[in-house]
Amino acid sequence: MSAPLPPPQHIAIIMDGNGRWAKKRLQPRLFGHRAGSKTTKAMVEACDDLGVKYLTIYAFSSENWARPLMEVDALMDLMVDMVRKEMDGMMQNNIRFRVLGNMNRLSPKSRKEFETGIERTRNNTGLQLSVAISYGGREEIVDAARRIAAAAAKGKLDAATLDEKGFAQYLYLPEVPDPELLIRTGGDLRVSNFLLWQVAYTELYVTPTLWPDFSKDDLLKAIAAFHSRQRRFGKVLEN
Ligand code: IPE
Ligand code: IPE
Ligand code: MG
Repeated sequence: MSAPLPPPQHIAIIMDGNGRWAKKRLQPRLFGHRAGSKTTKAMVEACDDLGVKYLTIYAFSSENWARPLMEVDALMDLMVDMVRKEMDGMMQNNIRFRVLGNMNRLSPKSRKEFETGIERTRNNTGLQLSVAISYGGREEIVDAARRIAAAAAKGKLDAATLDEKGFAQYLYLPEVPDPELLIRTGGDLRVSNFLLWQVAYTELYVTPTLWPDFSKDDLLKAIAAFHSRQRRFGKVLEN
C-alpha cells in the first residue's frame, strides 16, 4: 500500500450513535456513552499521531439538555471525568484542550474542572483539541451578533464596514480555522446545529458506523475519501 496522504489540518467530528450501540446490546444508553468515550480517547490519539493540527468534537449539544436528567448528568460526569483523567496525558503530548459552547449552563463544578484543563494546557502547541459542550451553532452566531451590537453601541465597531472576517472574530474560537472535513458517525445526514458558520465549504463524510465502533481505520477511510473530493468553493475548475 502506498503511504497515506497527509490529513487535513482541521477535522471536526459529530460523535453519534452511542445510544443505538447500547440498545443493540440491550444495555442502557449510558453503556454506549462509556464505550463512546473510549473511541474519543483513541481518536484524539490517532489524530495526534497523524499530525492533525485541529480536532473539534461534538460531545454535547445545546439541544441535548432536553434529554432525561439522568442521561444529562451522566454525560456531564463522564466528560468531566475524562478531562480530569486525560490531563496528564494531554500535557505529555503537548495537546491543547479547549471547550466551545455556552459554559454558563454547566454546573459550577463541571465548569471549574473544564477551566482547569483549559488553563493547564493553554501553552501547548501540538494538537489543538476543541470539545463542543453545551454547544449550538445558532447560539454561537447569536452570541456573536449580541457582542457585535454591544461593541457597535459603544462605538468600538462600525457596523457598516463589518465583513465576514470581522464577524468571525466574534465566534467562540476565532483563531481556529474552518474544518476541511466533517465526519458524522451513526449515519444521519444532518448537521444537527454543529459549527453552522464554519462548515460553509467543509467536505462532509457520513458513515453508518456507530461511534463506539469507529476505529483508526475508519478515520483513515474518511481522510482518503476527503482526498478524492474535488473542492471547488463555488468556482469553475480547469480540468
Ligand atoms: C451521541 O450519541 C452522544 C450524544 C449526543 C451526547 P447519542 O446519544 O445521540 O446516540 P444515538 O444517536 O441515540 O444512537
Ligand atoms: C448530535 O447528535 C450531537 C452530538 C453528537 C453531541 P444528536 O444525536 O444530538 O443529534 P440528532 O438528534 O440526531 O439531530
Ligand atoms: Mg444521536
